[in-house]
Amino acid sequence: MKIVTVVGARPQFIKAAAMSRVLRREHQEILVHTGQHYDPNMSDVFFEELGIPQPEYNLGISGGSHAQMTGRMLIAIEEVLLKESPDALLVYGDTNSTMAASLAAVKLHIPIIHVEAAARLGTFSNPEEVNRVVTDHISSILFACVPSAVEFARKEGLERNLFLVGDPMYDAFLYYKGHRALEQIQLKSLDGKIRMVPDHFNYLTCHRQENTQSDDNLKEILFAMESMGIPSIYPVHPRNQEAARRIMEKDRFRNILFVEPVGYLDSNTLVNNAQRIVTDSGGVQREAFFAEKPCITVFDYVVWPETMVNHCNQLAKPDAKDILDKCKNKAVFDTQYRPFGDGHACERMCDILRKENILR
Ligand code: UD1
Ligand code: UDP
Repeated sequence: MKIVTVVGARPQFIKAAAMSRVLRREHQEILVHTGQHYDPNMSDVFFEELGIPQPEYNLGISGGSHAQMTGRMLIAIEEVLLKESPDALLVYGDTNSTMAASLAAVKLHIPIIHVEAAARLGTFSNPEEVNRVVTDHISSILFACVPSAVEFARKEGLERNLFLVGDPMYDAFLYYKGHRALEQIQLKSLDGKIRMVPDHFNYLTCHRQENTQSDDNLKEILFAMESMGIPSIYPVHPRNQEAARRIMEKDRFRNILFVEPVGYLDSNTLVNNAQRIVTDSGGVQREAFFAEKPCITVFDYVVWPETMVNHCNQLAKPDAKDILDKCKNKAVFDTQYRPFGDGHACERMCDILRKENILR
């Protein structure tokens, strides 16, 4: 088959790294980068370090409101699809790039393969929920990562072409684990200095629209990290670098290393060596679970229900006291419980695409 894959944001590069390696053994893949993430440390570093093939197209579309970004992508992706006339479109996750590509394809009657399908929070106040619901309902094949997604799909009548395959993020996590030693990591702090990783540390990431609309949420999260007793490494997403600098100027945080976003190999090693993880990232909270590290997810909704067992992953409000209170609960990991599959989700997806002959 000729498959056009559309990616645009950091989590999609990681999934594409795992999937493209397998997919390209038997299919022709045309890779399209929308440009949604464009800083070298948000894009190039992933392609270089993870050996992702260079995209055939880079549309250079980023920023603006949701509608502006999505609208511009829709028009540009349609042009690519008309030119390439693929047998299918492959998309990952729930970003604006995912939904724009899917809308362009469905109107051209190009079947859509949606990887990481049918995850649900249950609210359209979250922009990613809109993207995933729309994409799922116009897709021909839905690849689900976890059993809870199968349930959500069933409730929405989406089970016909749904397959539970496991999580490509877990494939990537296992594949790249150990590729970077802790001592090799050089963190670039926001003031330009190079910092080495401390012996004991917590790992913090924060970029959700819900947590970055005002400085208050981020401040609360930072106050919590500051009083955890060991340093925290905080790679600051470009979305809140301005806010982070503003907050740093007013309040001194001696225990937090504010650093530029790191590449996936560094991030994977930091997750594997952290004492504790605090995040609002969908990917990082799963990685914490894969690495058996206690995680606090600062968010109002459960994104990955499978991780919310035995205090392994706990929701907290963007409130220092709530975060610190949640840290008192002891996480217990059951090594037999592997709801994200066995690290071969990508092979499984390719087997299904071949055996089911579903798109022909
Ligand atoms: C997007 C996804 C989110 C995903 C996240 C991964 C949507 C709706 N959201 O959120 O689901 O979790 O990516 O990180 O698609 N920016 C830069 N440099 C970059 C990238 C972004 O400066 O390389 C700036 C943009 O100009 C924009 C802001 O950061 O002003 C937010 O970027 P955007 O892609 O809109 O959303 P994310 O928060 O990254
Ligand atoms: N990540 C990274 N560098 C960072 C922060 C995160 O490489 O500085 C990786 C990490 O593996 C994470 C993935 O990027 O799972 C996607 O992260 P992000 O939090 O941006 O998106 P989400 O998973 O919330 O959509």
